[in-house]
Amino acid sequence: MCGIFGYLNYLVERDRRFILDTLVNGLSRLEYRGYDSAGLAVDGESSDETYIFKQVGKVAALKKLVNEQQVDFEKAFISHCGMAHTRWATHGQPSQINSHPHRSDAKNEFTIVHNGIITNYKEIKTLLEKKGITFETDTDTECVAKLTKYVYDTQKDQNLTLTALVKLVVKELEGSFAFIFKSVHFPNEVVCTRRGSPLLVGVKTAKKLKVDFVDVEFGNTTENVTPTPAEATTGFLSAEDGHPQLHRSQSRAFLSEDGMPQPIEFFLASDAAAIVEHTKRVLYLEDDDIAHIANGELHIHRLRRDEGASTTRSIQTLEIELAEIMKGSFDHFMQKEIYEQPESVVNTMRGRVNFEQHQVTLGGLRGYLPIMRRARRIVFIACGTSYHSCLATRGIFEELTEIPAQIDLASDFLDRRTPIFRDDVCVFVSQSGETADTILAMRYCLERGALCVGVTNTVGSSISRETHCGVHINAGPEIGVASTKAYTSQYIALVMMALQLSEDRISMTERRNAIIDGLYRLPHQIKEVLAQDANLQTLAKDTLSKERSLLLMGRGYQNATCLEGALKIKEISYMHSEGILAGELKHGPLALIDENMPVILIMTKDSLYPKVQSALQQVTARKGQPIIVCNDDDEDLQKNYKTICVPQNVDCLQGLVNILPLQLLSYHLAVIQGVDVDFPRNLAKSVTVE
Ligand code: F6R
Repeated sequence: MCGIFGYLNYLVERDRRFILDTLVNGLSRLEYRGYDSAGLAVDGESSDETYIFKQVGKVAALKKLVNEQQVDFEKAFISHCGMAHTRWATHGQPSQINSHPHRSDAKNEFTIVHNGIITNYKEIKTLLEKKGITFETDTDTECVAKLTKYVYDTQKDQNLTLTALVKLVVKELEGSFAFIFKSVHFPNEVVCTRRGSPLLVGVKTAKKLKVDFVDVEFGNTTENVTPTPAEATTGFLSAEDGHPQLHRSQSRAFLSEDGMPQPIEFFLASDAAAIVEHTKRVLYLEDDDIAHIANGELHIHRLRRDEGASTTRSIQTLEIELAEIMKGSFDHFMQKEIYEQPESVVNTMRGRVNFEQHQVTLGGLRGYLPIMRRARRIVFIACGTSYHSCLATRGIFEELTEIPAQIDLASDFLDRRTPIFRDDVCVFVSQSGETADTILAMRYCLERGALCVGVTNTVGSSISRETHCGVHINAGPEIGVASTKAYTSQYIALVMMALQLSEDRISMTERRNAIIDGLYRLPHQIKEVLAQDANLQTLAKDTLSKERSLLLMGRGYQNATCLEGALKIKEISYMHSEGILAGELKHGPLALIDENMPVILIMTKDSLYPKVQSALQQVTARKGQPIIVCNDDDEDLQKNYKTICVPQNVDCLQGLVNILPLQLLSYHLAVIQGVDVDFPRNLAKSVTVE
């Protein structure tokens, strides 16, 4: 949902070519967040000039446009600030004029990039129009650029700093945002801020930084800050720093160990994927942080004095590797991520499942297990694929823990204003940890005093920071818009949660042991399914690609598999596809069945197998010719039907195996249709607006 990227250098000589390449490259890493249009802003020939380049379409189109410019690519800058944006349109259709960066006026006095939505932009626009200011775009963002100039012009006598100016502007805004501000009046400075949309700062220096954190300025105070013991033990301080009284000047300057200002580069981005190739040292901004960067220094101010806010921001080390966010030899990220699943599921379990002793330990839940076990109910809240992972595991959760489990789509949960109580436990499942609906549901539950547990793939995301406790699924960066490896890892994380919560239930020992043995077999079984990729490609090409519609049916644990498979197919191949609970067939969907309606029926063996057989009868009696996903020892089905064979696992884990052929089929269908698999139309990876 839009990606923003910024780059500043200080005492490091960089030419314009390097700066432009860095910005464009940063955007290409963020492109999965939006790919309607892209743009960037850099300094002109002198510091009182800003060049803005924008283009409709993908980042490659912007790159071409930039390369065609008649600008001095050799011009060197010791200090420079540039910003860039890739857009997923919310207000105003994708067009060059509506692309970011947005500017305050024809002279580009203030330039901004924005991710999010300003909900009161109409009021601001009306107010500014009454002052005679005219607008050139249909976007909500432009009013922020114009408001910035308006405040600057009307308060000129105050000699406002860029930070003070941005504070005044942001105080007027409602909605969600991450912003970068640049101005010809404040050359080589940048201010960035966020509320509800992610933003992080990467710091790159040749030498070691003197401190590993930045302390936060509340209002105009200058008092020293003592880190709390909790901050000191969570890696906020380097070992030699211990628990000192920190002087602001220490944290402000990013001085090197010898106390001298040092060459430094800063990278601002919506996502670590755009930073990791430059530096692994990053600082996550929090809501209402106003970060000012100039002269090699980073200062973090708060929008207003708020007692609850933490007083330091640590510089953390990213754990992702550049190779993880590159496609390598694969044609698409989605394909790569499907193929990563034998390893990603192991990474989810690594250090957590002891297969010999049949034990599961999720460190992030330690200390919260008694509260969870006493819960009146556990409410799982998520969107899209993440919701399906909750649906896939509800049965085993209820069986093992005997705690009533409720599952809600985040948007619907909020629409209903679902009653939540202090003795509820609410689990928020989100690959990105930044999905707006899920975040709003989380805050709703936090306000009502429930224990909030996060299950995310993104360390440092809003959900992982704001929940009381949680589990990182450790699937590695997921870049393809269609979620694949995150689904299987979320699924496993939720099964592990159920296993851990039920470890005190002796009556469940045998069942738990069987599931843990099943988890052990899983990576190998996933590889077995991946080995059938060529057959699935043929099936997609010869049998399914010409169809307009596809029904997927199953029941019990496989209901979620059908819904998830149907979502994958529709979102990337644009073929209509529906997941149907086989038990519901006779209550309506059967009317769709005839010899022309393509059906995939999931019939792997579990206690519901006889019931799914009756669904098969219902379909074939109407001349339906289903393709059946069955176990590889099910000879009867293989003899009589077109089948996709998969190895058998424990009932509650079978969905992890069964989803693989559906992911591969959806991938091949999309490729056959000529869809840009990683960038399906109208979608974006991380939906950070309601
Ligand atoms: C589908 C897909 C989406 C996401 C949904 C939630 O392939 O990726 O349905 O699952 O937008 O996103 P997260 O998990 O980031 O909250």
